[in-house]
Amino acid sequence: MKILFASSEIHPLIKTGGLADVAGALPVALRSKEIDVKLIMPAYQGILEKLPPVKNSTNLGNPFGCGDLILLETQLADSNTPIYLVQCQNLFERDAGPYLDIYGQDFGDNDIRFAAFSWVCALITQHGTLIGWQPDLLHLNDWQTGYAAAYLAAWRLNHPPIVTTVHNLRYNGSFPIERFDEVRLPHDLLSIHGMEFYGRYSSLKAGLVFADAITTVSPTYAHEILTPTYGDGLDGTLRAQSNKLSGILNGVDYNEWSPSIDPFIHTHYDLHSLDNKQQNKLALQRENGLPESPNIPVFGVVSRLTEQKGLDLIPAAIEPALKQGAMFILLGSGDKGLEQQYLDLQARYPDQVSIRIGYDEAYSHRLQAGIDMLLIPSRFEPCGLTQLYALKYGTLPIVRRTGGLADTVFEEGHHANGFVFNHATAEDLRSAIDRSLVAFSDLSTWRTLQIQAMTQDHSWERVTEQWINLYESLIN
Ligand code: ADP
Ligand code: GLC
Repeated sequence: MKILFASSEIHPLIKTGGLADVAGALPVALRSKEIDVKLIMPAYQGILEKLPPVKNSTNLGNPFGCGDLILLETQLADSNTPIYLVQCQNLFERDAGPYLDIYGQDFGDNDIRFAAFSWVCALITQHGTLIGWQPDLLHLNDWQTGYAAAYLAAWRLNHPPIVTTVHNLRYNGSFPIERFDEVRLPHDLLSIHGMEFYGRYSSLKAGLVFADAITTVSPTYAHEILTPTYGDGLDGTLRAQSNKLSGILNGVDYNEWSPSIDPFIHTHYDLHSLDNKQQNKLALQRENGLPESPNIPVFGVVSRLTEQKGLDLIPAAIEPALKQGAMFILLGSGDKGLEQQYLDLQARYPDQVSIRIGYDEAYSHRLQAGIDMLLIPSRFEPCGLTQLYALKYGTLPIVRRTGGLADTVFEEGHHANGFVFNHATAEDLRSAIDRSLVAFSDLSTWRTLQIQAMTQDHSWERVTEQWINLYESLIN
């Protein structure tokens, strides 16, 4: 079975969020089951230096008038997973991130950039002979690849089946209709059953309506997005397509995220040496210039700072715990107003609060290992990976009951592994924080919860079977 797996970010090459983690791990897990998966991603600035030398290079011409699109082939160094890179200097070799410029604004031509990337994905899928490898199925991820489904629909030829995975419906790749001609698609795709989206057009919608199957990254989110509250304007479209929608929970790459082997953390530990976790807490406090206090509870956050994550609820909700002596450590960046709120909190509690604005992969591991509770009060959360990492590190998540958080964190029963609240309010969060403090104050209760958290298996191997079944059902 040959699968082309298209993603705009892949860890460890480039990452802004969980999509990169998924794209860096699921294909590798599938390859271990003898599935011939190849990745494809834009050749952003600096990417080629992170990879073994290019083996093949194919010029695909200049269909968008932005310069030649060149397809390069190499493989990920650690896993030998083959990867195609779409090279086009004008479109992809820029400073800053994959989507935003150095001022944090969307690049003005993101439509053309990701249409061009998607066009190459579609071309390979339709005309594999060009490069001597034709996939049996094209697996798209999020709006950046949705255009590929539109090109395949526009070309009106039989083509291999398409799966679109929705990692986040909020980012719908919508652009003004006036710009539609730039992406070289026929206007008949702009109908309400096609890409039209409230007077604009949406590339994600193309990925939904022109796919053979739609998946999302947790069963609960798959239900939620059929409702207006979580559907972000696409719930009607999704309800109409619900016969091809399913939720498959993300996994964790335990080669990267295990406290027994993590190269970034101070002291390794596992289920049988949980006392060593404390060394990581002391090291984290030291690193942040906080008093080294092994017994006081330390709360933490590792997150993009966006409305989605509900982080505006934390300052008010955590204050009573701070007044009782708890600590709070945050790593994140994004919304400037939120960044400032947190810096203000730090200024008020300099010996208890440490805020690091930025993106730091290594520090995110040290933080997960060093804190006691991870706060994730998301308004919506398609899957969420940080709670899964926390569980493995014996760090108990405090989460809102939504999406993948609802599917993986439980406060009741024999698999209780964290704290769960219902409403996105500071009061509900504060009462979950209070419950966690009561549990924390009793070492044997806390140890039981930690052990339940650490023994939960979220390896990718657990879900590869579901992916293979889905692929097979579409290919046959
Ligand atoms: P989302 O994809 O919505 O951001 P996830 O929980 O699925 O949420 O994935 C977030 C990923 O990004 C995790 O791997 C997390 O550790 C990482 N991450 C988020 N913010 C930062 C940051 N500031 N520094 C380092 N890693 C971060
Ligand atoms: C998105 C979602 C997150 C999910 C990730 C990977 O960024 O916000 O919940 O875990 O994609 O699927």
